[in-house]
Amino acid sequence: MNESHDDKPHTPGPSLWPIGFAVGVACLLVGLVISVPALIVGAVITVVFGWLWVRELTHRHGPPSEATVGAEAPIEEERYGAVAEAAHDTYDRSAFLTASTIGVGGLIGAAVTIPSLGFMVLPSFVGEGVETYDVDLGPISNFPEGEYVVATYTESADIGEVSRRTAFVRNNGLTADGVPSFSIVFSRCVHLGCPVQPNGPLDGDPIEYVADGMPPVTLQPVLAASFGCPCHGGLYDGEGNRTAGPPVRALDRYEFSIVDGNLVLGRLFSVGEVQGNGANAVISKYYRAYPGVHVDGIERFLYPIPTPGSKS
Ligand code: FES
Repeated sequence: MNESHDDKPHTPGPSLWPIGFAVGVACLLVGLVISVPALIVGAVITVVFGWLWVRELTHRHGPPSEATVGAEAPIEEERYGAVAEAAHDTYDRSAFLTASTIGVGGLIGAAVTIPSLGFMVLPSFVGEGVETYDVDLGPISNFPEGEYVVATYTESADIGEVSRRTAFVRNNGLTADGVPSFSIVFSRCVHLGCPVQPNGPLDGDPIEYVADGMPPVTLQPVLAASFGCPCHGGLYDGEGNRTAGPPVRALDRYEFSIVDGNLVLGRLFSVGEVQGNGANAVISKYYRAYPGVHVDGIERFLYPIPTPGSKS
């Protein structure tokens, strides 16, 4: 620190670090809205420029270098004696106030911001809580080929009735490779989450299946060629593609497996669009997204978490 000796106050020169810090914060906030990579870049810029800014401030107000002390010491001692020498060895009051203001402000900002960011961002990573894993719907012979069956099951025996879910299950027969094919559509509307209904009459009586240690599964065949949502008039075709109304994508679907001749539900995933039908359908498959969230097209960039996916 080179102090002038003409008693004029020392004015710090302009610094670019605050501007970089502000750009980093802006990038971080935009990243929260559009994508994780932008969020990471913003966080890195913020941390780097913040550190440079703090470093500059503390150096500006901190103790002088040995060379400087050596150069100025005779003059200072001459003017102020031993008191001036002692002052050179410690931080002065303004440096202390600057550092403590930045430190305390940073702590308060972190205490306010981090919980808010956590509540805002984490749900996108951890999903909605209960997920469907390995729910046994019973023998595949209970699912007549080419017809939807409304399967009502309990997702978690611990949670009980509030975790009752409904899936529309259609046995598509075999694929060209000889593999069993099922279309399993989740009943939650992808507009705002109301329960979707099959458009068609019931076909016979329901069947009940009870797996070991689990509440019963109810299977009700229906003659449905489409699905409708009673809340705002959303309509979907027989593959779950949106055909009318406010929903933004096709109905979500389940992965599945066949275990000892039984149909077992796996994870839920979101669907952009289904091309073709039945065993020949090509599904635009994405990570599970909330109702109202676009998973493909330009609109996907308007939502906080990117939805990488693949055709299957
Ligand atoms: S919730 Fe289904 S159309 Fe609005």
